[in-house]
Parts: sequence; structure tokens; C-alpha cells
Amino acid sequence: MQIQQQIEEKTRKIEAILNQYLPKEEGYQKRIMEAMNYSFTAGGKRLRPMLMQETYRMFGGSSRVIEPFMAAMEMIHTYSLIHDDLPAMDNDEYRRGKKTTHVVYGEAMAILAGDGLLNFAYETALSAFSLEPENQRIPQALQVLANKAGIYGMVGGQTVDVETDQTRVVSKDQIDFIYRLKTSALLEASMMIGGILAGANANELEQLERIAGKVGLAFQIQDDILDVTGSAEVLGKPVGSDDKNQKATYVSYEGLEKAKADVNAYSQEALQELKQLSVKNDFLEELVRYLINREK
Ligand code: IPE
Ligand code: IPE
Ligand code: MG
Ligand code: MG
Ligand code: MG
Repeated sequence: MQIQQQIEEKTRKIEAILNQYLPKEEGYQKRIMEAMNYSFTAGGKRLRPMLMQETYRMFGGSSRVIEPFMAAMEMIHTYSLIHDDLPAMDNDEYRRGKKTTHVVYGEAMAILAGDGLLNFAYETALSAFSLEPENQRIPQALQVLANKAGIYGMVGGQTVDVETDQTRVVSKDQIDFIYRLKTSALLEASMMIGGILAGANANELEQLERIAGKVGLAFQIQDDILDVTGSAEVLGKPVGSDDKNQKATYVSYEGLEKAKADVNAYSQEALQELKQLSVKNDFLEELVRYLINREK
């Protein structure tokens, strides 16, 4: 089967899992659940739950305990996008092929929908204990989830990202820092949680963190490239957003050609390290290779 077809099939199955964890739209506070579900169900590549599930399988995991963590990760990612699009941040009007949450529900509700998704992510991940009360690996997975989403991870990266808006004068070090935190951190958490819940050892977890870190750098650089060369129809979000915000990106810093070469270089390094693991998942390797030339 073609990789594209395989990805589509797996994405469908992941969506079925994610949908089971959505909050019901009911009660006086119904509007926030609608706003949360609006963006969550709009689509998206579901890359983070996919990386988590594939890493879990690669290390021999086979239980449903991974599922609440897949949903929690996608909730945290979706909240990060809702807030990233707010007028105070990137001020973008399209996401996942639809109007952004703040355009449809208003800014106050978009802020709350983000807050709601972040908190509901932990409520959801904690439900892993109801599935397997004796599972000693769950607390470690929770710790990684919390750490990589917060000030030492995604939120920390977004902080430096918005601080350097309108400046363009940043160092390569700062750009690497921003990308490692705002984007790589959630990919690292995804692969590490897959590994943790399947019983990977400390050394393997370090390897997974390094691999996902590189996949994340390549992924964000490609995102910056597509902001310049991509199409809004295909991406489901505007192009030219970084330029509008005079953002210092890998592309503005290194130029398009070097950026493209580095997407490939980081991905090849990740692939090399994937091959050095004691376990193997052909699809995961194909996926990393596929992402190098992704158009959305
Ligand atoms: C967008 O993430 C934000 C970045 C880190 C570049 P994705 O490109 O994974 O967005 P969706 O989930 O497919 O919408
Ligand atoms: C955002 O990076 C990464 C997040 C943590 C949300 P971008 O601002 O480049 O993401 P897009 O292009 O809006 O998806
Ligand atoms: Mg941004
Ligand atoms: Mg943005
Ligand atoms: Mg972008």
C-alpha cells in the first residue's frame, strides 16, 4: 500500500479513538464545549497521536492505555493552535480549512476553549488510571506530558517566539531554542509517552527524545517553508502569516534553499537514529521520510 493511503487509513482510525474522548455539548456552559469541539474535529494531520501510537506499537505495546494519552496530546496541540491564532498572537483567520475559533466564537470564548482543552487533556490522560489502576508507567507518562507542554516545552517556545516578533534580529541559537520548544517538545512527548507506556528503558527514551527532537525541527522548518511556498487551500491555513508578523523564521534567517536542505538533513539524522534502535517500525520510518516533502 502507498504511504499516503496508509497514513489516511491510520488517521481515520485515530480520529475514531479521539472522538470517543470529546466532551458532551451540554449544560449552561455548553458553548465552551462547542468551541472546543469545533477546532478539535476540524481535521488536522493527527501527527502527534500517530507518532505516539506507532512508537507504542514499535516497543510492543498493545493495550488501550495509550488511547487517553493520544487524545490528551491532540487536545493540548489543538489548544496551542487556538491560542496561536488569536489576534494577540499570530492573528490568523483560517485553521484546518475553517475560520479560526476566535472568528467564529469570539476572542473570550476562544481563550476559554483553549483553557478548557488544556485542562480537559489532563482529565482525559488521568482516565488511563481507570483502565489500568495498577499500571506504574502512567505517572511517568503524565509527567512527560505536563513537562513538554509547559514553560520548559511548548509554552516556553511560544514565549520566545512572540517576544521576537517584529524584530527579525535573532541568533541561530534563539531560533533553534524556539523550534525545539514550541514544536519539537510535543513531538518528543508523543514518542516518549509511546515508549514509556510500552516499557522502553531510560536509554531508549533518550534516543526517542533525540529522534523526535529532530523530526520536530524538520517539521517546523517545513512549516515555515510552506508559509512562503505553500497554498492556503492545501494547507487549510493562511500563507504569508510569518511575513505579516515580521517573524524571524528559519527561512528568513537561512534562506529557502538552506532551509529545504536542512529539513532533509534533520530528517535523515532522525532516520539514522531510528535504525539504531533495538526495535523497528517500517511505517514510522516511511512517515518521517514522507514528512520531508509534505505539502500540508
Ligand atoms: C501546526 O501543527 C503547528 C506547528 C507546530 C507547525 P500541524 O501542522 O501538525 O497542524 P495540524 O494538526 O495538522 O492542523
Ligand atoms: C506554532 O508555530 C507552533 C505552536 C506551538 C502552535 P506557527 O505559528 O508557525 O504555527 P502555524 O503556522 O500557525 O500552524
Ligand atoms: Mg505562531
Ligand atoms: Mg501561527
Ligand atoms: Mg507556521
